[in-house]
Amino acid sequence: MIHSLSYLGFGSPNFEEWADFGTRVLGLELAARGEDDAVRLRMDDLNYRLAVHPAERDEIRYIGWACANEAEFKAYLQHLTSVGVEFESGSSGELEERQVADLVWWVDPYGHRQEISWGKRSSPTTFNSPRGISGFVTGAQGLGHFVLFVPNLLEADEYYTRVLGLKLSDRIIFNNFNIRFYHVNGRHHSMALGEMPGMTGMNHFMLEVQNFGDVGRAIDLINDDGGKNPIILTLGRHTNDLMTSFYCDTPSSVKIEYGHGGYVIRDDAEWMVQTYSANSIWGHRPTEALHSRPPGILIPIDQSGN
Ligand SMILES: [Fe+2]
Repeated sequence: MIHSLSYLGFGSPNFEEWADFGTRVLGLELAARGEDDAVRLRMDDLNYRLAVHPAERDEIRYIGWACANEAEFKAYLQHLTSVGVEFESGSSGELEERQVADLVWWVDPYGHRQEISWGKRSSPTTFNSPRGISGFVTGAQGLGHFVLFVPNLLEADEYYTRVLGLKLSDRIIFNNFNIRFYHVNGRHHSMALGEMPGMTGMNHFMLEVQNFGDVGRAIDLINDDGGKNPIILTLGRHTNDLMTSFYCDTPSSVKIEYGHGGYVIRDDAEWMVQTYSANSIWGHRPTEALHSRPPGILIPIDQSGN
């Protein structure tokens, strides 16, 4: 089955701005550019985990999941066939671009390109954050997490749990929010789904740092930037994964949650799904910037191929 969230790819007219924002503010390391001049960013010894490609509009290019090894990958392909997913093999150019041993891909019912791979290339002990942060929490927990908008929560739940094998971690239901959180490894959630009628897209993705001080320094750097990629939700602690984090805008509509101290699910056999009636224990207060910007990469469902 799937081991972890491995990489994410976006397209954006503002892709160049990620070279500065990703390094100076987020503490990621620049990797070699893609063939199309994509800005690629490292967060550990893997050659890269984030790519922002040149594009005419902000878009989700691909969502990359990893299997632990070749045998798991082959078993997963059998699983895909058994659940009726018709997938394509990655071309040699795509394997080189993604820096993986092998991959397959398909487009999910919401128009998102899902990729499964194994054997991503890494360069041990070479990660070097340009702003000297202590490091990101990755490894067995993968890249972090992301939140998709879906038009119908229960339909999307049925699809992603069956096809990707995601397990429900818990739910948050309050005001207009109805969100389900899913895990594939110890990370409390690698993906979450939030219902937004008529829409799909991505609200945010989350990066977790090993040291709480690195969250604080990121807040200072953003506030010193004079309104560029501003904070949209102040520092706070979530009810479900206990992450202490803030949210900021990016050059490309998708938001970032930047946090520390997320909960790790140690034993699936003992895990019991909860429903929370609040998003946060404290903090995560909206700023003015939250309301003046789109809530992520939003795609009306009729433009997503459906
Ligand atoms: Fe999050």
